[in-house]
Amino acid sequence: MSVSRLSRSAIFAAAALAGSEYGQAAAGGDRAFGEYLSAECVTCHQVTGQATGGIPAIVAWPEDQFIAVMQAYKAKDRDNNVMQTMAGRLSKEEIEALAAYFGSLPIQPLRN
Ligand code: HEC
Repeated sequence: MSVSRLSRSAIFAAAALAGSEYGQAAAGGDRAFGEYLSAECVTCHQVTGQATGGIPAIVAWPEDQFIAVMQAYKAKDRDNNVMQTMAGRLSKEEIEALAAYFGSLPIQPLRN
């Protein structure tokens, strides 16, 4: 985990707190809450939507697909210790919020 990723997570958490003021909730989950929760996820997953070093991209997914995958990890129907642990700690509302947030992000072109 690099220093730059850590500080980016901190920025995200701060942005989420600021963002909750204008409370733009998407159809399903609470996007601002999802942004706040995403700080942990983006220590591994790229917020820019690139797959890196065995970590798949999770942005711009349809929300229902994102929710289904997270629930599969939570139920241990899908194998992966890290993600089973991550999803196991999340409530249905938290998973929906993360789906709303990550689903709303564009896949950004690679830098340089
Ligand atoms: C410690 C690193 C790490 C963290 C933190 C992490 N993930 Fe993952 N995630 C992974 C890895 C590795 C995989 C690939 C697992 C597999 O092969 O099934 C994955 C897979 C996924 C997938 C499925 C991707 C696909 O293409 O099938 C989703 C969705 C996902 N993670 C969401 C999240 C969310 C949401 C969080 C935060 C709550 C999170 N992850 C936190 C490492 C991480």
